[in-house]
Amino acid sequence: MHAITVSESQILNAPVTRREFLNYAFLASLGIFFVTLGGATFLFALPRFGAGEFGSVFNLGVAGDVIPPLTAAPSPNTPARSWVMQTEQGVLALYNVCPHLGCLYGWQEVTNRFECPCHGSKYQKDGTYISGPAPRSLDRFVIRFTDVDGNDLAETNAKGEPLPIPSPDAVMAVDTAKIILGKQHG
Ligand code: FES
Repeated sequence: MHAITVSESQILNAPVTRREFLNYAFLASLGIFFVTLGGATFLFALPRFGAGEFGSVFNLGVAGDVIPPLTAAPSPNTPARSWVMQTEQGVLALYNVCPHLGCLYGWQEVTNRFECPCHGSKYQKDGTYISGPAPRSLDRFVIRFTDVDGNDLAETNAKGEPLPIPSPDAVMAVDTAKIILGKQHG
């Protein structure tokens, strides 16, 4: 009996069958799919906003320095696009854009309320709707307090209620990626 020997060149030059071709094509498309999926997952996991950009977390500083006293006017923070103020129940950070058509409203010392220059919507100090075409009260950002070591002390709840100040030494941050919409009226 003769042993059949096949040389390496014969193997390399053997024609690829239709089944083999389909198998290779399937494996190649599977590889491309997983590479694409991995890339998309990596990009999705990256932070969407850099520090100091709107949409990121702004560290405002020590509570005792950055939160106005209870009877004082709200304090504007332009980079964080917010108004910070204190109420009997705690501190709030209001988004400085009017929920009607997006104008920047302002604090009016004379009337002791927020007023929008575009169509005249008016709001109380805590952002509650008073009058005008705006569909809801002012929107609020989530506030976070940490201690000097970065440990969490308190955070705005899902309803956006005023957050009691845990300590004058607590560090206050405003998360501009987390907006709690104001209450609808009417
Ligand atoms: S944009 Fe403020 S009232 Fe219209």
